[in-house]
Amino acid sequence: MFLWGTATAAYQIEGATGEDGRGPSIWDTFAREPGRTRDGHTGDVACDHYHRWREDVALMADLGVNAYRFSIAWPRVLPDGAGQVNGRGLDFYDRLVDALLAAGVQPVPTLFHWDLPQALEDRGGWLNRDVAELFADYAGVVAARLADRVPLWITLNEPFVHMAFGYAMGLHAPGHALMTGALPAAHHQLLAHGRAVAALRAAGARQVALTNNCTPVWPASSREQDVRAAEAYDILHNRLFTDPVLTGAYPDLSAYTGDLDFVRDGDLETVSAPIDALGVNYYNPTRIAAPTDEGLPFTDAGITGHPTTAFGWPVVPDGLRELLTGLKSRYGAALPPILVTENGCSQPDVPGPDGTIDDAGRIAFLDGHIAALRRAMDEGVDVRGYFVWSLIDNFEWAEGYHQRFGLVHVDHATQRRTPKRSYHWYRDFLRAQNTDT
Ligand code: NOJ
Repeated sequence: MFLWGTATAAYQIEGATGEDGRGPSIWDTFAREPGRTRDGHTGDVACDHYHRWREDVALMADLGVNAYRFSIAWPRVLPDGAGQVNGRGLDFYDRLVDALLAAGVQPVPTLFHWDLPQALEDRGGWLNRDVAELFADYAGVVAARLADRVPLWITLNEPFVHMAFGYAMGLHAPGHALMTGALPAAHHQLLAHGRAVAALRAAGARQVALTNNCTPVWPASSREQDVRAAEAYDILHNRLFTDPVLTGAYPDLSAYTGDLDFVRDGDLETVSAPIDALGVNYYNPTRIAAPTDEGLPFTDAGITGHPTTAFGWPVVPDGLRELLTGLKSRYGAALPPILVTENGCSQPDVPGPDGTIDDAGRIAFLDGHIAALRRAMDEGVDVRGYFVWSLIDNFEWAEGYHQRFGLVHVDHATQRRTPKRSYHWYRDFLRAQNTDT
């Protein structure tokens, strides 16, 4: 069964950050620091999904998706990151899983979507190798509770973005600006993934995947300096994560960093444990030019000539086909089936006088990207699922509530949910799929 779904993440929708024994996460800490998020927004309330999950499941049932990708908050399950398990945290996800199944929606949990328990950040976060082992313990605890009903698991969400924004540039929690000093945070996340694969399988998980943010990289020109810079960017954004997982080796990083002394014997065997699917989050391609200063080995040259989202991101549907076929030619037989675990766009989404939200831009975006997905499949890429980001407007990290990605509008003052026109479009699309097959 091809999975047609929507996606969300715990910190972005749940709220209730102090309820039922949840411990603090790095995003609670970060969002409270002045100047970190736009207008000081936090996820304290978010979409209040922790209390309104029944309504959100009903929205999915009505939408007709057969899968839902959500994330489990590590600090709800293990408030200190390790040790004492918080049964009430697990109960929440247990109820959610049962409600999804009753609605005919397959639950697809992600175990880490950036909300590290603060107690683990106090021990160095992903710069500390021990966190990899603790993640595997946490994965085992959750799977022991849910794997009887949940076949497919995703370990990490976008380790690239977590490393780059959280540890290299300081734009996301935990707010470190270490530049290439952030690389251990990549390796330890990958090690955590590998160890979790074993823990999940031991607890009965049937399929395990890893999700990264992937981007086709376009050199700004055919000049050798631009082409070399584009290769560097491709290595640091894409290959740094997919090469070790799929081939058991890091790409050549010698031009960007010193010895990889944080990589120990045996690590790459752990990292490259076979997975059942590769999760790909696609938003846009990246155009790269030669560096303009001594800092990074590339410059983001920006993309013009395409429509843009409210975020200013270029809308390039065929980039999804390019990305997927590119993964197939790069990894060949080593590439597992692909799940597009996120794709979507932010739009201004202002309700009209009658309260309806006519998000024509989002409909065009989704329509174009699904067509590109089909072209990739026609070209032989084995894709097994597609998840729209997002079900509901939510807390968009450093942008707070200013970027709306949902198929469903959320009035953040009242928590009122209003399906947008794109929700109805996706529902009609899904109904047509069911009639066709
Ligand atoms: C990818 C992230 O996984 C998700 O949390 C975020 O909201 C979307 N990109 C949009 O930026």
